[in-house]
Amino acid sequence: MGLAKNVLIVGNGAREHAIAWKIASSPHKPRVLTAPGNAGTAQLGTNFDVSAEDIEGLVKLACDESVDLTIIGPEVPLATGVVDRFREGGLRVFGPTKSAARIEASKSFAKDVMAAANVPTAEAEVFQNAAAAIEYIESATPPFVVKADGLAAGKGVIMSATAEEAVDAINSMFVSQEFGSAGDTVLIEEWLQGQEVSVFAFVDGPYVSEMTAACDYKRAKDGDLGLNTGGMGSYSPPRFWDEELDKRVRSEIMEPVATHMAQLGCPFQGILYAGLMITEDGPKVIEFNCRMGDPEAQVVIPRLKSDLLELAWRSSEGSLAGLEVEWSSDSWVGVVLASDGYPGKYETGFEIDGLPDQSEECIVFHAGTGLVEVLELDQNAKISTSGGRVMTVSSRGDSIAEARRSAYEVVDGVQFGNVYFRRDIAAGV
Ligand code: AMP
Ligand code: GLY
Repeated sequence: MGLAKNVLIVGNGAREHAIAWKIASSPHKPRVLTAPGNAGTAQLGTNFDVSAEDIEGLVKLACDESVDLTIIGPEVPLATGVVDRFREGGLRVFGPTKSAARIEASKSFAKDVMAAANVPTAEAEVFQNAAAAIEYIESATPPFVVKADGLAAGKGVIMSATAEEAVDAINSMFVSQEFGSAGDTVLIEEWLQGQEVSVFAFVDGPYVSEMTAACDYKRAKDGDLGLNTGGMGSYSPPRFWDEELDKRVRSEIMEPVATHMAQLGCPFQGILYAGLMITEDGPKVIEFNCRMGDPEAQVVIPRLKSDLLELAWRSSEGSLAGLEVEWSSDSWVGVVLASDGYPGKYETGFEIDGLPDQSEECIVFHAGTGLVEVLELDQNAKISTSGGRVMTVSSRGDSIAEARRSAYEVVDGVQFGNVYFRRDIAAGV
């Protein structure tokens, strides 16, 4: 651990700003580097203009800057093997290998692991062509959930109330190939009913740390209307997340999957994220992700009392077991401020005003923000919008209701052109 002087965080969302913020607060006082980062991460260290998907560029950056540990935020570089490539180059990295990242990158692989480990999940049939999928739809009872097998930035899931909608979804994947090669294999799933929750643990082979949970709001508009987005807000911990549910999710879902992946020869090392539906028959898996959630990270990382740098370091060398992962009982609510039009077309380049000073009670995690012409922030640098999701305002409270009130107070003071946000994040929960 004495060597963790230079820590590189890969990605440019609010999740990566949250990771960088937590790393910057480590008692080991590392220098924080981010690639490519945003105006928020520039306040914590240095941004480097290397894309999260440019694996060779990241390796070069890590070598040039004597990086001691790299933390990967998003799924795409994990799925394309950034961890394997770093390790080949003798570089220390936190996150799963390409083969372990299949738990997110291939929904059919995840289903096979769950079947072998006897983990409750939505029933699914896997298809390689449109004719067989349509024949199945005509013989079964709606509703259906139609999913592209591969990564599709959260868009490859089509909830189909009728057989007709399901057939259209199948055609969009196999015939018009709207999801590219992600849609070469398609799953048709049972539509689960219940409360949705995201569960997170640090996993190192068969070892699963203390877990925590958060809820995310995926639809663009209030009342869960509008298009699916990357997430418009989140809160943690949910009231229904009690010790009994925690135990059940650990013993029925997280541990069997971690153990089975280790037995398969693709041990998972990193943050395992289970997207669950709490149904009348208990928790069932909707999907696994191989990294932190966004916007869940913005409410979960502030609740992490342990040193993230030490956790990531120990996980990267396979010695995480036995290290305590402590989550505070504080409540956090995060509201995403977006550019109006997101997830469709939107304009950017508007100056942002009214940002509060960072405090222990409220943190603004940047996403689509840029600095006008500079990479390092000075006192007078102007921050402007540069993306769909612009920032997450995360606030602490002794209850979710209190955290929610204080988050919206801050949100109401932030101004930029075309600002859009949901008014009902964590309302009535
Ligand atoms: P995914 O990309 O798999 O997370 O799916 C996106 C969203 O679609 C999930 O967060 C759920 O809200 C919904 N969803 C996916 N699969 C199912 C399912 N089998 N039953 C009910 N809702 C689902
Ligand atoms: N919050 C959903 C995701 O990160 O995939």
